[in-house]
Amino acid sequence: MSTPRLFAQTLPGLRLTSKRTAGPIARHMRCYTKATAVPPPAAPSRSAQISVRRSPWSTPLQRRAFSASATVSHGHVEPPKPGEELYVTFIDKEGVEHKIAVSKGDNLLDIAQANDLEMEGACGGSCACSTCHVIVLDQDYYDKMPEPDDDENDMLDLAFGLQETSRLGCQVVMKPELDGLRVKLPSMTRNLQSSDFK
Ligand code: FES
Repeated sequence: MSTPRLFAQTLPGLRLTSKRTAGPIARHMRCYTKATAVPPPAAPSRSAQISVRRSPWSTPLQRRAFSASATVSHGHVEPPKPGEELYVTFIDKEGVEHKIAVSKGDNLLDIAQANDLEMEGACGGSCACSTCHVIVLDQDYYDKMPEPDDDENDMLDLAFGLQETSRLGCQVVMKPELDGLRVKLPSMTRNLQSSDFK
């Protein structure tokens, strides 16, 4: 290793520069190599310091907090406590009855999805589709439910096979008065699936 290179490596802040002669004889010959001091980085200007200090990301306290709120997933229902069970029966497209013990406050969409019944719930229960359409089989139970609001009625108008006692499953919340409710799943929904044609 040449002396200048060794010298530069042992002294931080120095770097090697070289240039070629311009003359005809030594045009392709390195004629000298010298070590040059690298100036220290300039201190940030006053305005740069101010802008860094004002940056919303400059201190940990000012960073956006990570959200740790509970995840809400559809189809998740808690098993009812002993002695507090309410019962709802779904009758699927094949006419098979599924009697399920549920808790007060569960809605029919979550109950159906938690029990692998075929209820799509395309809008996630926000009353913006009709794929959770159910038909209440008993008029008495239908009358115990709160009246559907305008949003639900608008979506029900789009439901396949609408009946007098049709409701959106995501809007029907179980309560003690509805214990023993029986609902039928329609043979099709607006979002046609291949299984609708079996
Ligand atoms: Fe869309 Fe019920 S899931 S309206």
